[in-house]
Amino acid sequence: MDLATYESQLCRDLTLPAEALTRMAQSFKEAMSAGLAGRTSSLKMLPSFLALPTGAEKGRVIAVDFGGTNVRVLEAELTGRGEVKIEQMRRFPLVDPAAGYDYMSGSADASHLFGFIAARVGEIARPGVDYPLGHTFSFPCEQTGVNKARLIVWTKEFKTRGVEGQDIGALFDAALARAGVGHVKGRAIINDTVGTLLAAAYLKRDVDIASICGTGHNTCYLEPSFPATGKPMIVNMESGNFDQVPQTRFDIALDRASERPGAQKLEKMVSGYYLGEIVRHILADMATQGVLPKSAKLGQVLALKGMDLDHILSAKGELHRVSEVAQRCLGLEDLSKVQLQAIQNMVQLVARRSARLVAATFFGTLLHTDAGLAREHTVAIDGSLYEKLPGYAGWLQEALDELAPKGRVTTMLSKDGSGIGAAIAAGMTGTA
Ligand code: GLC
Repeated sequence: MDLATYESQLCRDLTLPAEALTRMAQSFKEAMSAGLAGRTSSLKMLPSFLALPTGAEKGRVIAVDFGGTNVRVLEAELTGRGEVKIEQMRRFPLVDPAAGYDYMSGSADASHLFGFIAARVGEIARPGVDYPLGHTFSFPCEQTGVNKARLIVWTKEFKTRGVEGQDIGALFDAALARAGVGHVKGRAIINDTVGTLLAAAYLKRDVDIASICGTGHNTCYLEPSFPATGKPMIVNMESGNFDQVPQTRFDIALDRASERPGAQKLEKMVSGYYLGEIVRHILADMATQGVLPKSAKLGQVLALKGMDLDHILSAKGELHRVSEVAQRCLGLEDLSKVQLQAIQNMVQLVARRSARLVAATFFGTLLHTDAGLAREHTVAIDGSLYEKLPGYAGWLQEALDELAPKGRVTTMLSKDGSGIGAAIAAGMTGTA
């Protein structure tokens, strides 16, 4: 096969026209209804036991933001006028080979992990001050109350023992007490999407959906009437697990080779952790088809990171920068200009498809909450793809404008919303 034929086939496979997005949005809406009604659905529809904040939240709080290898702890003041003033913030890794610890691995257990975080809280909490604590814990949790969250299953390669199936609030409170930080009391456990929504609600009135488009992907929204309570409630959809997605043979191969085949199908097509892998699977296929040279590195898992895709897309016409990534990460030498251009085009197709799939899920959410689009809606987003990947935010808006009347649904960056949102959540649940 020649390169031009390969490229046009690939373009057909990876381009999603508006009709395909509309169909997907419709099935997303149906999966939401099924999940809310307790029927089988790939959307877990997990209640947060929080609605939107009023802005009147007040007092000094501690927030913990835990959703990956780096944890942030902050002390903040809620002014009661819809503002959060960050007084102190520390960031620390859960894995540090030089210091000899790894709290993500199976060699650590719940008391090591939460004991370590509790000790960091102890370093910023002032003695003699009673603080409520808001805890962003960005993993799928079954909640039975705002501070009662049971971890269903670890995601993002965490393997720490004795946490799955456990109540995270109870584990953390016990760790705080053991660390002598009993004056800090856990009040709220939230997902990072929920934190992003709470933080953005302080900035803009019509925000009712929030999403993470970064290493992982997930979306929450304000459900106007949650079935069990009949009241408004923010619901964490764990939408990365949505499974009615138009997979190509590359997505199927990636899923089969992943840690948990069949799980997180949407996340595997859209999130930063996997986009490099999709690109690598396509490049390996191009080499097999003889339109690119062969290289052993094409078989190496995670050879391409999100950052490398950034370099390829930001290179624009400077193809030597694409060549630099192809050589360094994939061992592909002496590529022609046409081949380099084909690689850049393909990365763009994969990234644009991600943005369009995500847009379809936002539109599906709105089909559920406001099918006639009677109101304007803003989707708050945090994460490296949305914030940094060249073109991404624009493709997302372009797709939303194909699905809804132009400008009716817009997006905004909610930077570090998960930490700020945890502080707001602590304030929403009263004082210590
Ligand atoms: C994963 C988690 C989800 C989180 C998302 C973004 O999909 O399961 O809870 O919101 O990553 O961090």
